[in-house]
Amino acid sequence: MSKKIETKAIHAGQKADPSTGAIMTPIYQSSTYVQSAVGETKGYEYSRTGNPTRTALEDCLAALESAKYGLAFSSGMAATDTLLRLFSPGDHILAGIDVYGGTFRLFDKELRRFGLDFDFIDMSDVENIAPAINDNTKLLWLESPTNPYLSLAYISEIADFAKSHPSKPLLTVDNTFATPYLQRPLELGADFVLHSTTKYLGGHSDAIGGALMLNNEAHFERLAFLQNSVGAIPGPMDCFLILRGLKTLHVRMDRHAENASKIAEYLSEHPKVEKIYYPFHSSHPQHALAKKQMRNGGGMLSFELKSGAEGAKNVAEATQIFALAESLGGVESLIEIPAAMTHLSTAGSPLEVNQGLVRLSVGIEHSDDLLQDLDQALEKA
Ligand SMILES: Cc1ncc(COP(=O)(O)O)c(C=O)c1O
Repeated sequence: MSKKIETKAIHAGQKADPSTGAIMTPIYQSSTYVQSAVGETKGYEYSRTGNPTRTALEDCLAALESAKYGLAFSSGMAATDTLLRLFSPGDHILAGIDVYGGTFRLFDKELRRFGLDFDFIDMSDVENIAPAINDNTKLLWLESPTNPYLSLAYISEIADFAKSHPSKPLLTVDNTFATPYLQRPLELGADFVLHSTTKYLGGHSDAIGGALMLNNEAHFERLAFLQNSVGAIPGPMDCFLILRGLKTLHVRMDRHAENASKIAEYLSEHPKVEKIYYPFHSSHPQHALAKKQMRNGGGMLSFELKSGAEGAKNVAEATQIFALAESLGGVESLIEIPAAMTHLSTAGSPLEVNQGLVRLSVGIEHSDDLLQDLDQALEKA
């Protein structure tokens, strides 16, 4: 029976525990598994290689992204690092200009040392991609919406382009901001979906995790080998927390988007605000694509103030419900200055973020309270 994503979020990959009937997947807090004879196991031998709580999470994540395979990692960066090990010295990777700062740092400051070649371009226009591809381009890497400018890439068009190009680069979409509830890149032609499950999938700011979802069996075999060989795996407790978070993904995402839309409307009319970035607001240059590609606008929103960097800092330090903190995607609202916090590693690079940009991760508190909080903070702008 084919099921809708709301049902999969609650049930996929999970069944009552065979030994007790426990309805929730237990936290199998065990590093090793007893063998009834040499080499005779019940499917698990050592928890770096596989753990039943992790299997439930991986199967649920795969189902949500319409993937055949899912692999869980200890963080989004661990998933990124493991995926990049599919490639070899001399391979060229073309990535979006405003990818997450930590992704840029790993690519630019570390993986170049191993002979991988990177270029960063604006992926919001597919026309920019062809001139930047060369014979060695093996991978396109994009976020949509991006962090922190919420710009979009036309995923199906880019996937079609990649498949028809002689270099046949693979396509990875970091779907952390949108989540599979808003858009499913594999259905749009991508080869890999990456998540920081730390964010909306976990949803409660209580665990760090990452995931890769894909359909190609040979890539899965290689990535599972790497997952075991490199060992950047999540522990069973973190797998349980993310699995529990997933059960409310759809309900949370609807409320995040409802609140963020109200805030976008409010900020767009505020006299001290210069510009807002929210895909489902009519001022967004890719509003039409957002409506086509995404179910709703999600909970992330950025804005710039007429008073620039100083005003931004004052506002970020003045909110009372929005907590001044890095990260995103939890039930609670957060505020941050990307140039000084999450995206500090891009300083001096072409990816550098405007010092006056404020990023909000809009939570699921009552929207009246959030608006009131921003209202009093903006007085200090
Ligand atoms: C879009 C995006 N991708 C990847 C990551 C990295 O994930 P993690 O912090 O779980 O390693 C982040 C973290 O903020 C992110 O925002």
